[in-house]
Amino acid sequence: MKTKMYALPALPYDYKALVPFLSEEQLKIHHDKHHKAYVDKANEVLGKLEIARREGTKIDVKAVSKNLSFQAAGALLHSLFWKNLAPKDQTQTEPTKIIGDEITKEFSSFERFRKEFTDCAINCEGSGWATLAYDRQTNHLVIMQIEKHNINIIPGLDLLLVLDVWEHAYYLDYKNERPKYVEAFWQNVNWQEVEIRLDKAILTLKQ
Ligand SMILES: [Fe+2]
Repeated sequence: MKTKMYALPALPYDYKALVPFLSEEQLKIHHDKHHKAYVDKANEVLGKLEIARREGTKIDVKAVSKNLSFQAAGALLHSLFWKNLAPKDQTQTEPTKIIGDEITKEFSSFERFRKEFTDCAINCEGSGWATLAYDRQTNHLVIMQIEKHNINIIPGLDLLLVLDVWEHAYYLDYKNERPKYVEAFWQNVNWQEVEIRLDKAILTLKQ
């Protein structure tokens, strides 16, 4: 069987498509340099593991596992992030029907959800992610604050909406003003994609 590796997906829009939320330069460096680096490093770990196992050489399992967790999670989260965004003229500022109803059911109102998610993003210590996830065990929507790319994760949840709050995601456009970046993000959320992910999670639950 051919070995499958991690891959860098192309952006689903061009580099200028998210202006003024993200400049061409900011988006390009984030996708082409930072995201690519996670993909490359995750693949490097896979390659080293393959060689070590083939040649029977010793590996530091703890260090390798930790590194793979970080790099692979970084690669995956960025792939989800790009599809969670859309040019302003192709999206709407409030959620589409099904996800909108679920958000209201869980958080009482969209405004309340937006405030909790915003707080989660702004108050993430250092580098990390704000996420909205679906827990198939309980049917609840959950806000999960991920530190780095892989810390504080509840395993098995479906990630519906993710927001990168690493400085590399916004520093060129917003400098140290993370709250301004988070506020601007709401204008470019691709709610259709969030709804598609929720649909898939619920469908999997029924199967
Ligand atoms: Fe990032």
